[in-house]
Amino acid sequence: MNAILALENLRVEYRNREWGRTSRVAVDGLNLEVFRGEVFGFLGPNGAGKTTTLNVLLGFTPASCGAAYLFGVNVREPIARRRIGYLPELTYYYKFLTAEELLRFYARIFHLSSAETERRIDAVLALVELQSARRQPIRTYSKGMQQRVGLAQALINEPELLILDEPTSGLDPLGRMKVRTIIQRLKNEGKTVFFSSHELGEVETVCDRVAILHQGVLKAAGRVDDLARQYQGNLEQVFLKVIGYHDND
Ligand SMILES: Nc1ncnc2c1ncn2[C@@H]1O[C@H](COP(=O)(O)OP(=O)(O)O)[C@@H](O)[C@H]1O
Ligand SMILES: [Mg+2]
Repeated sequence: MNAILALENLRVEYRNREWGRTSRVAVDGLNLEVFRGEVFGFLGPNGAGKTTTLNVLLGFTPASCGAAYLFGVNVREPIARRRIGYLPELTYYYKFLTAEELLRFYARIFHLSSAETERRIDAVLALVELQSARRQPIRTYSKGMQQRVGLAQALINEPELLILDEPTSGLDPLGRMKVRTIIQRLKNEGKTVFFSSHELGEVETVCDRVAILHQGVLKAAGRVDDLARQYQGNLEQVFLKVIGYHDND
């Protein structure tokens, strides 16, 4: 089975003048494969290297060593990114636009015809449950609605793979539940979802497999139930164990 997303010995070092010749290793020797139809949770505490890894996949940050592939194509080739949708950790949309207007703007980037644009806007707004607010400016939206507009934007090109950076971060329980439901719907449609998170409750219910990153190093990976059995605890306990936290610390 060919991986949709693959990391091979990926290493990312950030160089900074302030540190002289030294550099900071953000990701160190990462190996990972994600297959078609999987919902994959990329977990780790703040600063673990999650966003850095996603930025390599999106072509924003170069790999210092090793490589990353999407659909078998090295991410250095722009064509590798054609079939993906991406939701960054923080989104900055023009708040005076309505959801429809924002989505039309993104549809133009993908050179969609106007009939196709309207068809897809209807479909993605239904999926993220924003039909009734589609003609309101984004500035009137709650944080949860803004995040769902972001998801709609990431879906406008009908991507096969979705890459989401902390999609539930900062949302209230209802907002998180809605995002989780959307991820579940995408899975039912056969999409592949790769998302980062440090909110473990989310991940346990929606993910087929997870990887736990700590200080740039992959500490554990596998099916949630297998990890739970192996480490004798729920995902939160697994997480704390693999990052080396003990109750008496
Ligand atoms: N542009 C950058 N320049 C230098 N260091 C960075 C940069 N971006 C992130 N880092 C550092 O790399 C490490 C990983 O960060 P990041 O990938 O953002 O982690 P996460 O998304 O898991 O919170 C952190 O130590 C962070 O301070
Ligand atoms: Mg991050």
